[in-house]
Amino acid sequence: MNGFADKVAIVTGAGSGIGRAAALRLGSLGAKVVVADIKGGPETVEAIRRAGGHALCQPTDVCEPGEIEALVARSVEQFGRLDYAFNNAGVAQTNRRPLHELDLATWQSIMDTNLRSIFLCMKHEIPRMLEAGGGAIVNTSSGVVPHGYKNISTYVASKAGVDALTRVAAMEVAERNIRINSVNPGFVATPLLDAIIAPADQKRLIERTPLRKMTTAEDVANMAVFLLSQEAGHVTGQSVYVDGGINVSF
Ligand SMILES: NC(=O)c1ccc[n+]([C@@H]2O[C@H](COP(=O)([O-])OP(=O)(O)OC[C@H]3O[C@@H](n4cnc5c(N)ncnc54)[C@H](O)[C@@H]3O)[C@@H](O)[C@H]2O)c1
Repeated sequence: MNGFADKVAIVTGAGSGIGRAAALRLGSLGAKVVVADIKGGPETVEAIRRAGGHALCQPTDVCEPGEIEALVARSVEQFGRLDYAFNNAGVAQTNRRPLHELDLATWQSIMDTNLRSIFLCMKHEIPRMLEAGGGAIVNTSSGVVPHGYKNISTYVASKAGVDALTRVAAMEVAERNIRINSVNPGFVATPLLDAIIAPADQKRLIERTPLRKMTTAEDVANMAVFLLSQEAGHVTGQSVYVDGGINVSF
């Protein structure tokens, strides 16, 4: 895959799962990777460097607006430009209950992590990409968006918001050589899924998956990196499902 050599890419949530897999792939393709997370970042950087790539860790809580601003500023200070961003950090809704029984603190915390962070990341990334003459952004949404999943209202709403922001921002900057898309993973074998679905129940998900295997972090990371790449140069404003076909199988 061409076009990543010496380019600069931010990956949030890069300390684990999908984000780490994408950071490793971007590093292997020659990008200088800015690894952002509240934990696990140094280990990801170490793995990229061991494989011969370039990376730095910027500890970042995406719920803190100042830390997102500092993340983008550090990327440009350290590497001179910003070309790509994979805004991927997110949390599951572990407090599962009907909407009418849900507390405001749960709503606020999930919205801040999963949706407000995407707004703030793009708000700070886009001006730097304009300075670089263009760029590409991928936001992590979810395969739950079109469905009425019970008891995780805030998570579904937060990810529907990610798709909406992705479309609108994509239209706002299309003429200025910036593409913006989302990836919508199905059930991916990561610590996030382990927190909400027991391992025995995860096995049953495979039976529901038309391609008959669990989605891996690498499956999603490969699509995110493809959408960032020049090969996806005519793709913008899209939400791409990476789920082994579950989304169309109901
Ligand atoms: N695993 C799935 O089944 C699945 C399905 C659909 C969507 N997703 C989405 O994929 C994304 C990545 O999740 P994953 O499955 O790789 O899980 P993961 O738990 O392995 O990774 C998520 C990472 O985000 C980081 N993070 C959480 N809150 C943060 C914060 N406030 N600031 C900075 N970093 C923070 C975590 O520390 C962690 O390293 C999330 O946005 C999630 O909603 C996952």
